[in-house]
Amino acid sequence: MNVPAYVKNEKAITWIKDIAALTKPDNVYWCDGSQAENDTMYQQLVKSGSFIKLNEKKRPNSYLVRSDVSDVARVEDRTFICSVKKSDAGPTNNWADPREMKVTLNKLFDGCMRGRTLYVIPFSMGPLGSHIAHIGIELTDSLYVVVNMRIMTRMGKAIWDVLGSDGDFVPCVHSVGAPLAPGQKDVPWPCNKEKYIVHYPEEHAIWSFGSGYGGNALLGKKCLALRIASTMARDQGWMAEHMLIVGLESPQGQKTYVAAAFPSACGKTNLAMLIPPDALKTWKVTTVGDDIAWIKPGKDGQLYAINPENGYFGVAPGTSEKSNPNAMVTIKKNSIFTNVALTPDGDVWWEGMTKTPPPQLIDWTGQQWTPDCGRKAAHPNARFTTPANQCPCIDSEWENPNGVPIKAFIFGGRRSNTMPLICQAVNWAHGVYLAATMGSETTAAAAGKVGQVRRDPFAMLPFCGYHMAEYFDHWLTMGRRVAHPPRIFGVNWFRVDESGNFIWPGYGENMRVLKWIVERVNGSARGFESPLGWMPLYEDIDWNGLEFSRKQFDDLMKVDTELWKKEIQLHEELFMNLYDKLPRELNSIRELLLSSLLRG
Ligand code: GTP
Ligand code: SPV
Ligand code: MN
Repeated sequence: MNVPAYVKNEKAITWIKDIAALTKPDNVYWCDGSQAENDTMYQQLVKSGSFIKLNEKKRPNSYLVRSDVSDVARVEDRTFICSVKKSDAGPTNNWADPREMKVTLNKLFDGCMRGRTLYVIPFSMGPLGSHIAHIGIELTDSLYVVVNMRIMTRMGKAIWDVLGSDGDFVPCVHSVGAPLAPGQKDVPWPCNKEKYIVHYPEEHAIWSFGSGYGGNALLGKKCLALRIASTMARDQGWMAEHMLIVGLESPQGQKTYVAAAFPSACGKTNLAMLIPPDALKTWKVTTVGDDIAWIKPGKDGQLYAINPENGYFGVAPGTSEKSNPNAMVTIKKNSIFTNVALTPDGDVWWEGMTKTPPPQLIDWTGQQWTPDCGRKAAHPNARFTTPANQCPCIDSEWENPNGVPIKAFIFGGRRSNTMPLICQAVNWAHGVYLAATMGSETTAAAAGKVGQVRRDPFAMLPFCGYHMAEYFDHWLTMGRRVAHPPRIFGVNWFRVDESGNFIWPGYGENMRVLKWIVERVNGSARGFESPLGWMPLYEDIDWNGLEFSRKQFDDLMKVDTELWKKEIQLHEELFMNLYDKLPRELNSIRELLLSSLLRG
């Protein structure tokens, strides 16, 4: 194996040699992250038939990829937390004995890269050299992964300088699990029916087999930045969260940063890039991150957050000039589109991009498509991969290695009833309860049934690398540890009327809710006590420029006692499931909530 002279980290070299010996690729290629290298890779991907180059005039340096129809989302039932003790993974994670898992994986990985190239991808999650950042090295046999990682992370040669001879890194091994026999022709999207997404939390190691898609394969994202990082964060006194980070600047020029957790495909990217409605145009909204936040206590007693990512892997369907103009600008060039439709002039389209669909398309499976054919043109979990620095509303501090001070945490799920548009927790522990008991309707971001309400504590159910109840405890501890913890809020954009239509217009109009939050944080807005916490009255929301009646607002804010009794039963079920490690405060808060609801 030819090791480049600039690689000095013996631990990394030994590990890479071991993995190459196991997986038996034809070649080992060390990615340097350069533009020239990237250009060559795209050429190769187009030549092999994996990528389609989009119209250079309409979508410069951008590509369309169609995955295998069986490999379109994260596979939660094939995702494992292999802690030494089962009780450390907790009941909400799939656990397997690490020794047994290693036997299984050694068999699967033995020779799995035959006929392919092993790419060495050094990357940093977070700005290079930030004390909050972490380095990973992904070994993969997928060029799709390489070009995506180059957008989503800081990737390339410079990482080796940061690592030096003895720096620490998270080892990430990935294979699509499709070795090629001599002379065998490759397919556009190689993958394997058998899939394993495996984490060893004690070793901080990640092994992924069989899938090329998103969070299954871009291992810096969910695997490192959430599952492994959440265990590091617990051990080291910080937080790794499934949160967007956004800056809200008032007309007086005061900037407030907030972080918000929503489950997958529930509107983080939209909220992170929000454009205020005309009447609130004096507010400026700037994006720090759209999916993951790493948060550390600062010396001044505040929590500081960085976005560990360098790009956005965003849901394409529903993204339009109307719903998210900033995202539409961001994806104008240098972007990869996975499982969207292709227009006759070599551009992309997806459901919701324009009101009237084009008369003719090639759909995400490569078939001819017309508006009346009865099929979706893009897969519901179709995604764009796009560089963060192309975002027109990127925050000036987004690469500040020290992060930005967070004043509020916002939690929201997809709930057609029960949860009001907005409420504020009365204190930190109450906020932890609100986040811990969050529910949401499942989306296409994960393989399986869509639209069923499930508990998704902190929007972290698929991403917490350890026992969920211990994670609650960690949150309670963090609140006590910092002098100025952020205020905690709950929101719900998704309440519907009797006909099933969303009551709340959402998107840019969410600014009205954010405004109340900022004013609450700064002490200038009113809040009224309700069983669920502090709530605004109709008069406390800025309705300038929006026709929204008191009746509609009441429909959004109503706390239905009967529904809430059932809801609290579901909280109890969650707590029963986690009882062995559940912090006792949470049970007490549940009882308090129940009695105040019954009082009316
Ligand atoms: P991941 O990347 O999967 O973690 O999710 P995300 O939360 O970043 O997803 P994204 O922002 O791309 O969510 C897209 C989905 O949310 C689309 O179905 C949108 O239509 C919907 N959405 C976003 N904002 C709103 C809103 O304010 N109201 C309503 N009703 N839907 C919204
Ligand atoms: C999510 O599902 O929350 C995502 C997309 O952000 S993926 O990277 O595929 O997990
Ligand atoms: Mn996500």
